[in-house]
Amino acid sequence: MKFAILSRNGKLYSTRRLVEAARERGHSVRVLDPLRCYMRISSAGFDMRYKGKPLAGYAAVVPRIGASITRYGCAVLRQFELMGSYSPNSASAIARARDKLRCHQVLAAQGIGLPITVFGDNPDDTGDLLAMLGPPPHVIKLNEGTQGAGVMLTEKPSASRATIETLRGLYANFLVQEFIAEAKGADLRCFVVGDTVVAAMRRLAPQGDFRSNLHRGGTAKPVRPTRAEVATAVHAAQILGLGVAGVDLIRSKRGPLVLEVNSSPGLEGIEAATGVDVAGAVIEHTAAAALKQHTSNTNLTDS
Ligand SMILES: Nc1ncnc2c1ncn2[C@@H]1O[C@H](COP(=O)(O)OP(=O)(O)O)[C@@H](O)[C@H]1O
Ligand SMILES: [Mg+2]
Repeated sequence: MKFAILSRNGKLYSTRRLVEAARERGHSVRVLDPLRCYMRISSAGFDMRYKGKPLAGYAAVVPRIGASITRYGCAVLRQFELMGSYSPNSASAIARARDKLRCHQVLAAQGIGLPITVFGDNPDDTGDLLAMLGPPPHVIKLNEGTQGAGVMLTEKPSASRATIETLRGLYANFLVQEFIAEAKGADLRCFVVGDTVVAAMRRLAPQGDFRSNLHRGGTAKPVRPTRAEVATAVHAAQILGLGVAGVDLIRSKRGPLVLEVNSSPGLEGIEAATGVDVAGAVIEHTAAAALKQHTSNTNLTDS
């Protein structure tokens, strides 16, 4: 099968591993920088090109769209979808998952556990907004932050108010959450492929921090998630329409709570911590689903 990995950099661990896994399974595969894909759109048909040459015939695309290029990357992915390529994560699912607030709203509506979250726009409402949340500590997060940057812990109401005022002054979108103290700086990254958790690791924050992101110096160990954790992770990915997702859970007194759902989860940390061939699982799932999509499309045109 003809695969494309949409990635800005072929040298990145995740990209290299996906290429390797596809080749090992007999697929042809090419890394395409989404920012070098350009297109002509007309009602008569589409034309997509890459460095001067036409792009066509990719049965499957695995998107690795970084947060800084969400908009353009998703436009390119959408174009691939419209031209018949299968992607385990659709452009619209990726765009949806990037917005933490939106994810929380949608997941909460389906009964998924989450830290209690508040948000509001007007400074006059801050006092009541914080009263709705309860006493500090509070976790204040930028809506589109990643890798732990833009996640702050405030221990006093005055600190919460000052942080919120500062963020508003910068026109930043943010949300405020209850702090789950019993997690003790740990979270669980569940790597979901299709309807299974193929690998999971427990990440622990470095001394003196509450954020367990590996980019912030957190350490990781393999973990066997409980049945409830697996069900929560898989359900969260499905609700957001993601075939491949890194679902971050935190263990709380009231069960697993989803912190975020990552639509381009990194492979390096999880493969190193667990020894699982996660790239292989992504490629196999994508190839099987692409085949199914192409077969049903052919059936449709035949009948
Ligand atoms: N409500 C919370 N209570 C306790 N710890 C939290 C909470 N929210 C986030 N954290 C910690 O901070 C880390 C980063 O938060 P997260 O929402 O995943 O943002 P990012 O997208 O930057 O990774 C989490 O992995 C977790 O360790
Ligand atoms: Mg996170």
